[in-house]
Amino acid sequence: MTTPMSARRMSERRGSAGGAHRMSAVSGSRPSISDPRRGSIDPLRLIPMDQALPIEGSDDFNVVFIGAGNIMFGSDEGPWNHSFRLEHKLGPRLKVVALIDPAVQRAQEVLRAKCKTFVKSAYENTRVFKNLDEFIANMTPKERPRAVIIGSPPQFRGTSKPGKDIELQILKNFPGIAMFVEKPVATGPQDDIKDAFTIAKTIRDSQTICSIGYMLRYLKATQMMKKIISENNLTVMATIARYACAYEAIAKPDWWDKSRSFGPVIEQGTHFCDLSRYFGGEVDISTVSAHSLEHYENAGRLSAMKVDESQIPPENRIPRVTAATWKYDSGAVGNFTHIVGLQGSDYSCELEVYADGYSLKLVNPYVQPVLYVRRPGSDDEQTYRFPDDDPFFSEISNFIDVIEDIEEDPDAAQILSSYEDAVKSYELTWAIRAASEKSKKKATD
Ligand SMILES: NC(=O)c1ccc[n+]([C@@H]2O[C@H](COP(=O)([O-])OP(=O)(O)OC[C@H]3O[C@@H](n4cnc5c(N)ncnc54)[C@H](O)[C@@H]3O)[C@@H](O)[C@H]2O)c1
Repeated sequence: MTTPMSARRMSERRGSAGGAHRMSAVSGSRPSISDPRRGSIDPLRLIPMDQALPIEGSDDFNVVFIGAGNIMFGSDEGPWNHSFRLEHKLGPRLKVVALIDPAVQRAQEVLRAKCKTFVKSAYENTRVFKNLDEFIANMTPKERPRAVIIGSPPQFRGTSKPGKDIELQILKNFPGIAMFVEKPVATGPQDDIKDAFTIAKTIRDSQTICSIGYMLRYLKATQMMKKIISENNLTVMATIARYACAYEAIAKPDWWDKSRSFGPVIEQGTHFCDLSRYFGGEVDISTVSAHSLEHYENAGRLSAMKVDESQIPPENRIPRVTAATWKYDSGAVGNFTHIVGLQGSDYSCELEVYADGYSLKLVNPYVQPVLYVRRPGSDDEQTYRFPDDDPFFSEISNFIDVIEDIEEDPDAAQILSSYEDAVKSYELTWAIRAASEKSKKKATD
């Protein structure tokens, strides 16, 4: 479980970014994603998917999928489904040349289902492989991909260790081929983060186009916040993020076990830590402090858990509340609270950004984003709603536009989450977990 169950209500027919507009690839001259005033897309360009034409051209656009799971083919847990967005964006040009997943049967089943639909032409020649090496050994020149979409679990990527080094393998075997990588960039020991930074450097030095799946950056509401900050020349003073999940709906035992999923801040809260950084800029990691409410404390007892927590060793059980603060390099202050406390299925998530005279409050970004804006001159908040927004389409649309590299309009397409930037979000979530563990009241205290 990575994001709210209630997001399933969000239709898959939502807005888009870029539409048929295309532009140049990511280059060294592009603005830094971490700069709070740069690395944004005009929200007016984020148009509904049903108004976005498939990209022009007639040549095949070969794609390799790594992982045949929910993020790639959808599930009833939420609106994510990269194959669906790629089908719309690339139209008949889409050719999925390989689907790589050790769960071969699962991969074959999803392909069978696709081949029964009108998108058959994208999948009828897809070959299933257990790993990348098998694909490389069997690939014909015609099957060479233009993009690889990586949706395998994060414990199998983001390092230089064999079997967990898919990015380096792709860079080595397919130099120049674009990568889309799901969040978080990795899950593993905190010490491995330096490895992830090395991968980031390799990606940057090779100028490989690479986008990370922090899709909330592509929300129309997020981009409107960016625009207000930029147009009014504001300096962010504080970010206050709150992520309260509906734990009753989370039935995956791994999610409740820190030794497997690495805990709710790293696995789930990562989206909001990333969004906080998108507005606040670079975090001074040495300033991160945090407290947690643990399972063995009276206030941490939960009455509606769907998993049998007694099967999880006590030291691996997840915190019920994690509350963190930090300083940004700019001097601004960040604040993030993750709560495993709601029942039912709707999550409650909000991000507030403050600057002199302004508050920008983003509410319910997964399901029905609403933005409340208070400006100088009035104590009243203005309310903005974004009914047809689809950040999953927007991130894919921008990724493909950047690969196609047509210099029609230099403002049209942007990758808003680079590998290096996403490693910094991963580093922040690990720092929050580590700080909360350091400060926690022991069961025996
Ligand atoms: N952005 C979002 O909102 C969002 C939503 C869902 C999932 N995700 C992310 O997508 C990733 C995958 O999540 P999921 O929900 O699809 O998981 P999943 O368990 O549904 O699917 C993962 C698939 O990867 C396969 N796999 C395992 N090891 C592999 C390997 N070494 N190489 C290739 N495939 C391998 C598994 O067999 C499985 O079929 C995670 O990083 C998750 O955080 C992001």
